[in-house]
Amino acid sequence: MILVTGGAGFIGANFVLDWLADGAEPVVNVDKLTYAGNLGNLASLRGDARHVFVRADIGDRAAIGELLRTHRPRAVLNFAAETHVDRSIHGPAAFVETNVTATFALLEAVREWWSALPPPEAQAFRFLHVSTDEVYGSLGPDDPPFTETTPYAPNSPYSASKAASDHLVRAWHHTYGLPVLTTNCSNNYGPRQFPEKLIPLMLANALAGKPLPVYGDGRNVRDWLFVGDHTAALRAVLAHGRPGETYNVGGGVELTNLEVVETLCAILRERHPERDFASQVCFVADRPGHDRRYAIDPSKIRDELGWTPAETFASGLERTVDWYLDNAAWLASVQTREYRQWVELQYAAA
Ligand code: NAD
Ligand code: TYD
Repeated sequence: MILVTGGAGFIGANFVLDWLADGAEPVVNVDKLTYAGNLGNLASLRGDARHVFVRADIGDRAAIGELLRTHRPRAVLNFAAETHVDRSIHGPAAFVETNVTATFALLEAVREWWSALPPPEAQAFRFLHVSTDEVYGSLGPDDPPFTETTPYAPNSPYSASKAASDHLVRAWHHTYGLPVLTTNCSNNYGPRQFPEKLIPLMLANALAGKPLPVYGDGRNVRDWLFVGDHTAALRAVLAHGRPGETYNVGGGVELTNLEVVETLCAILRERHPERDFASQVCFVADRPGHDRRYAIDPSKIRDELGWTPAETFASGLERTVDWYLDNAAWLASVQTREYRQWVELQYAAA
């Protein structure tokens, strides 16, 4: 049994679905169900005894301690976080609360439980913390990509809060011996991503005939990783990663935002030749403190663990577009907040 936090969100849900599709052991899925958590992401697991969903906050140390004692997982994978840079600019408090304070509480709950385990179980246990390449800050056009030894230089409230959580995880290993693994990955895209991030927002707006708002000059560069390649990397790190180590995970696809949006419009045009999505592109005010470029050097995870991405950007984006086209009800429910009403109804007594 493994315990996953944040498994109703984009990457966590994809991880749980891929994990169980692989025939691996059962999952306890702990999620607070913030605006970003969506039980609809896990609909295909309804009735599957291998998946136990629990609505809880990772900052609730007593609740997490109880779950650990009940289920005795061999690993905890921490996906739970506030994740959207733009929201962190408008309201940084939630980012400090979840990504720093609640992650601290989670680490303490895990440490308390783990330190009482018999030595073989304690040695085999893993705490895998999912983090971001944004902790390294922004690259110039000719800088080499981020490696695991690039100094931390976060620039947004989001990346600063994630950097803080990475430091806590590192310290819990060095001070208490907790067997931790940390991954720092680049921008993910794929099915089930909340339409506040670049690709699903542009997709949703394009389909709705709305403007496609590109920040600034559109030349900021991101390194794009298909979510299924990320979940495969996490399985490899969990299975064979060395405790105390960090692993950078990237898709090896550096593109400007404008290139991403243009590729998206081209794929949509293949599906709907009668429409010209590119004409919906517009330029809007830049994001404050907008990082110019992220890029990952994935040599360590490739050489140590044999992981490389399977998708090209074209193939991954086609899969993503087709998922959104086939799941219009998912998109509509997220946009109308209908699924939130369902959650309140279902968990009213929780
Ligand atoms: P997401 O916003 O889609 O999902 C986050 C999930 O965490 C939601 O289900 C939410 O309900 C849950 N959550 C939030 N606060 C919680 C709390 N206090 N207790 C329990 N659950 C809580 O995020 P995502 O894109 O799936 O990202 C997952 C992880 O990967 C995050 O740690 C993020 O920093 C990291 N990451 C994401 C990307 C990306 O491109 N999406 C890139 C690099 C790293
Ligand atoms: P985002 O998906 O928010 O990820 P991050 O900021 O964590 O990299 O944004 C990706 C890039 O797209 C980033 O450079 C900001 C830009 N962007 C836009 O140009 N317009 C938008 O509406 C959004 C949401 C993002």
